[in-house]
Amino acid sequence: MAAKTVITFGTFDVLHVGHIRVLNRAAAHGDQLVVGVSSDALNFSKKGRNPVFSQSERVEMVSNLKVVDAVFVEESLELKRDYITQFGADVLVMGDDWSGKFDFVSDLCDVVYLPRTPSVSTTAIIEHIVTTRPAPVA
Ligand code: CTP
Repeated sequence: MAAKTVITFGTFDVLHVGHIRVLNRAAAHGDQLVVGVSSDALNFSKKGRNPVFSQSERVEMVSNLKVVDAVFVEESLELKRDYITQFGADVLVMGDDWSGKFDFVSDLCDVVYLPRTPSVSTTAIIEHIVTTRPAPVA
């Protein structure tokens, strides 16, 4: 039987336990896991700020996780269907903050939403660092 390919997408900036868990659980849905790491330009257009770590650093970190078999840079949200076809993905897995938002690819592959790990996000970590940084010495 052909290997089952799982695909997932994300920024994976300031890598945290929520990222690790969603990738581990995504990998368990098939035989190989392909991850689309969103480009710096795509993040800037979505969030109005650059990620803390550049796309090449984020690709390097995600590529080095043992459950990840292949990584590519996601250049555009519009290309989701092309990426799924290109990598021959059988299943798309995302955290449930995306619930329903990827149903438009369900004619190409299964779509699975996994519960997010509570109480952690890149945004919250950045906020925490910013608000707990000591004031500069006058
Ligand atoms: N994710 C998760 N649990 C979390 C945070 C993220 O399962 N606590 C999942 C997301 O649902 C997504 C993947 O991890 O499938 C990548 O999410 P990403 O947007 O990179 O992470 P966030 O921490 O949510 O980043 P931000 O705060 O910048 O939105």
